[in-house]
Amino acid sequence: MSPEVAPEVATETAQLMTLLGEISAKVDQRLRELLPPTTEAPAELHEAMRYSALAPGKRLRPALVLLAAQAVGGNEQAALDAGCALEMIHAFSLIHDDLPALDNDDLRRGLPTCHIKFGEAVALLAGDALFALAFEVLASLPLPAQQVVDILKITAKCVGSEGLVGGETIDILSEGKEVSKETLDQIHLRKTAALIAAACEIGALTAPDPTSSPSTLRTYGESIGLAFQIADDVLNETATAEQLGKAVGSDRERGKATYPALYGLEESRTKALDLAAQASELIQNFPNAPSLRAIAQYSVLRMN
Ligand code: IPE
Ligand code: IPE
Ligand code: MG
Ligand code: MG
Repeated sequence: MSPEVAPEVATETAQLMTLLGEISAKVDQRLRELLPPTTEAPAELHEAMRYSALAPGKRLRPALVLLAAQAVGGNEQAALDAGCALEMIHAFSLIHDDLPALDNDDLRRGLPTCHIKFGEAVALLAGDALFALAFEVLASLPLPAQQVVDILKITAKCVGSEGLVGGETIDILSEGKEVSKETLDQIHLRKTAALIAAACEIGALTAPDPTSSPSTLRTYGESIGLAFQIADDVLNETATAEQLGKAVGSDRERGKATYPALYGLEESRTKALDLAAQASELIQNFPNAPSLRAIAQYSVLRMN
């Protein structure tokens, strides 16, 4: 969001970028195994699923699952698969978000959006199939049955009307309208923070005996999720399409309810930084606090 950062933050961020690179490589390798092959019918559906899910994104949600699992001594294989499942859900949400009926965007992750490449029908269906596959992967996690059921329930809830889909609905229905600050928070908390909070909670639920850590990590995730979406709003106003790999200036054009629209750029930046600081306070006692703190900062200070 801003290149002017303190030297210690810059060091933590540089270390985090290396860690995120390693995590992304593991996640992409596992995603390639989990996604249906293009040699099987319907090949076009599978191509579209792989095209969108494997396109170069930041893999923030799987990284959070893995780091939350690490914070509590959780099961790494379960965390990797759960992270891949959440990345599939994220890819589904991006495909549908870009459709002409929603944001009508042509560029995503530096590539033509799924519907531009494969047509609207296949894009819509690829999103549906990614969503379904995510639940199949979660249902097969190598964890005790009760933990799997808890994870399935958390995931369903964070995607449904109380989460991502509800947030996307309020976002679309609010276009061109004056919305209250409470409604704006409802949009951001649901469309973005719900999945990010779930990623943190689910990571913590891969521990052998999850106690209070899942709820602490969930609250941490909710704060960084809101901060992350505020940063997305700011970047939409301040970054370039080359930098983001997606359209810029589009929120204003569509009359979207955003933080810069309601608070202005400076106050939006301050609010995002405050949320990252609040999140960092919560996780101070976890063994990998530096990574968790760096990812909170990165959610706000990222350049794409
Ligand atoms: C984009 O998410 C949609 C929002 C919630 C703002 P990301 O910024 O995590 O997108 P990728 O995965 O890196 O492409
Ligand atoms: C973010 O929506 C949340 C999603 C469910 C995709 P946006 O519409 O704000 O995100 P971008 O800017 O298209 O990535
Ligand atoms: Mg949108
Ligand atoms: Mg969009």
